[in-house]
Amino acid sequence: MKDFWQKLIEEQWKLCFLAPMDWYGDSAYRQVMKKVAPHIMCVTEFYSADWLVYSKTLADSVLQHDKIEEPLIVQIFWKEPENFAKAAKIIERYNIAWIDVNMWCPAKKVVKSWHWSGLMINEETAYRVVEELNKATKLPISVKTRLGFDWDDNLIRFAKWLENAWASLLTVHWRTAKQAYTWFANFEPIYELKKHIKIPLICNGDVKNYEDGMNKVKGLDGFMIWRATFWNPWVFLSDTHPSTTLLKEMEKWKFIDWQYFPTLWEILDIMYFHAQKLSQTKWERKGSLEIRKHLVCYLKNFPWVKVFRKKLVSVENLVDVENVINEIRNEYKDYLWVITTKIDIDI
Ligand SMILES: Cc1cc2nc3c(=O)[nH]c(=O)nc-3n(C[C@H](O)[C@H](O)[C@H](O)COP(=O)(O)O)c2cc1C
Repeated sequence: MKDFWQKLIEEQWKLCFLAPMDWYGDSAYRQVMKKVAPHIMCVTEFYSADWLVYSKTLADSVLQHDKIEEPLIVQIFWKEPENFAKAAKIIERYNIAWIDVNMWCPAKKVVKSWHWSGLMINEETAYRVVEELNKATKLPISVKTRLGFDWDDNLIRFAKWLENAWASLLTVHWRTAKQAYTWFANFEPIYELKKHIKIPLICNGDVKNYEDGMNKVKGLDGFMIWRATFWNPWVFLSDTHPSTTLLKEMEKWKFIDWQYFPTLWEILDIMYFHAQKLSQTKWERKGSLEIRKHLVCYLKNFPWVKVFRKKLVSVENLVDVENVINEIRNEYKDYLWVITTKIDIDI
């Protein structure tokens, strides 16, 4: 039987993914994203396969999730193929859609020991990782990787190794490991790769929003976004996406050209939802410390955020979050239902 996402591709849909993000892409963040854009698929932060196998508590704390996050993709990393297989058996218990292997991260220390993007220059181990995972589980196995390690001259060969090991899908970020976040986007090598492999191919890197993704995706099968979602979970909405038709009818006025602009009310609402979910999924104190960085970011386009910054970055619990949000609501009550582009931001 075909997986739901293979059917989507056959029906010419482009797959939209929230990219994996260490320290950010936790259950609360994913719930925010799916509440706003139900048509996307989320990938978890990376977890060490080794740690999943040996820790008594990690699997429960990071793999348990809310129904709204599904279909959920779990990303793992490690180097010994055997531990990947053991981790897959654990992941299977948590209603996960598929497993993604991190062959992306460029951190020097770990790359040296052949983890992460280091696997790009250790093709045989990369092959065995995917092969062992496929032997251990029926869940589809995908890989997130880059154009190359030093250069982009090995991408097609590497992708073929993965395809031969029965990887089900491949995501390629358009930079090499050495390029970190520098250079100008060049998707050409990814378009070229598409001609050489049969498995679905997703692109990643500097995609700004849904429309930008659709322009860049061309003959590929989808795109993945991270940084542009930070403070703006509405980036995946567009009046050109069929699933937003209903939304479009009800809230047409919030689309300018094709892009959705939330009202200040919606932003404040999602800030509280995010804080609530962080408190529920971690303990309240930890959740409150973690929400601080998000609260300021949600409002970063309003110059008046500086007035509230101190309060936003020192919330201690959910009541504090509610209080500061109510204060903002009160202060800007005349602007709550105006979409953000129309608010004179100097008010
Ligand atoms: C703080 C941070 C954490 C990240 N964590 C992961 C991760 O856990 N796994 C992974 O494959 N990529 C990770 N990435 C890379 C992103 O998934 C993505 O490939 C990259 O940011 C480029 O996409 P963007 O231009 O849309 O941000 C991380 C990036 C950043 C900045």
